[in-house]
Amino acid sequence: MTNKGGLEGVIVADINTSYIDGSKGKLVYSGYAIEDLAETTSFEEILFLLFNTRLPKRKEYEDLRRTIAANAAIPKAVIDMMKSLPPDTSAMAVLRTAVSMLSAFDADAENLTDKEAAKAKALRLTGQITTICAAWIRIAKGQEPIPPRKDLSVAENFVYMMSGDEPDATACAALNVYLVLLAEHGMNASTFATRVVTATGSDLHSAIVAGISALKGPSHGGANAEAMKMFIEIGDVDNVLPWFEKNIKSGKRRIMGIGHRVYKSNDPRAAILRRHAEALAESSGERKWLDIAVKLAETARADDYFVQRNLYPNVDYYSAIVLYMLGLDIDMFTPLFAMSRISGWSAHVIAQMGGRLIRPKANYVGPHDLEFVVIDQR
Ligand code: ACO
Repeated sequence: MTNKGGLEGVIVADINTSYIDGSKGKLVYSGYAIEDLAETTSFEEILFLLFNTRLPKRKEYEDLRRTIAANAAIPKAVIDMMKSLPPDTSAMAVLRTAVSMLSAFDADAENLTDKEAAKAKALRLTGQITTICAAWIRIAKGQEPIPPRKDLSVAENFVYMMSGDEPDATACAALNVYLVLLAEHGMNASTFATRVVTATGSDLHSAIVAGISALKGPSHGGANAEAMKMFIEIGDVDNVLPWFEKNIKSGKRRIMGIGHRVYKSNDPRAAILRRHAEALAESSGERKWLDIAVKLAETARADDYFVQRNLYPNVDYYSAIVLYMLGLDIDMFTPLFAMSRISGWSAHVIAQMGGRLIRPKANYVGPHDLEFVVIDQR
């Protein structure tokens, strides 16, 4: 028996966090259409929804927001470790290492069975990942990190910790939409990785490290950074067509941020992020990157190759423009994805706890019945 690889179409769990209809371009979080949630909810509400399968009441939301902010500080030893790294270390490698290290400072890290303890750990990690991301932006530039504030939301704290200034409302709103849109997405590669680790009985930090590791790849979360590098390489809207001919029509490369294992029509998150990229381009007067992205997407969608294979811009395509226009270094794009997806990962980890070991089978295609010869006679 041979197979196409990639476990395509294989169902590995029943979930209640998100539903995707890839042919209709539909994404739903626990019953709510993403279009209804994106502009009107905060990331913390989504976290509550994913953990409880219902939206929070005002007090529940405030409590959750306060809990995350109150636990967002990271130990000095983790800051010192980050300062000891070469400044050009991949930000995803920094995040992966810092999250792994944090487990040593979490008194409940080795509590492997209590789901309430896992929820509390996940909330701590949500705030701490935000702090790690903002701290690395400063440490990599030789600046001192700024500790989190207890009165701010995840989006606000991140914006505040980047500069130390009072967080700008427009930037926080755009970042909040991004965090809401990226929070959860079914059995994607990084989520599956967290589930595989959890199903062995391992701990939440280990599972999240696995998620971060899987997200880092350019076929998954790393695509937002690769998409922006590609827009910069193109450099000007007039270069789109020759660049497309040379790199894509020749079959040499893929367009990063286009195509998806599940969406065979528009990714609804891409449409929302495109609107935000438009708004940011409008308010800043800098349209160049968005114009390149739009022209490249239109060029691809007018090409038979992309039409026949149902390849559309995915979430990483326009989010690259949004994050760039928010002033983030490209290297920080994928950590920002992790800052959001910690919510979905954690919900999956908690659901998977106590579940059966995930252990698929491989199809052996090697030789049989070979005669064994000892090493010196081969
Ligand atoms: N540009 C050009 N061709 C593409 C692209 C692309 N971006 N994506 C897929 N294709 C082509 C493939 O070459 C293949 O063609 P073939 O049938 O002639 O061999 C066909 O479309 C199917 O591609 P697969 O790689 O088999 O599809 P798969 O479901 O495994 O891949 C993936 C999905 C990895 C996302 C792919 O579309 C891709 O590499 N996209 C670019 C990277 C990217 O944007 N990743 C982020 C995904 S979203 C996320 O993870 C958050």
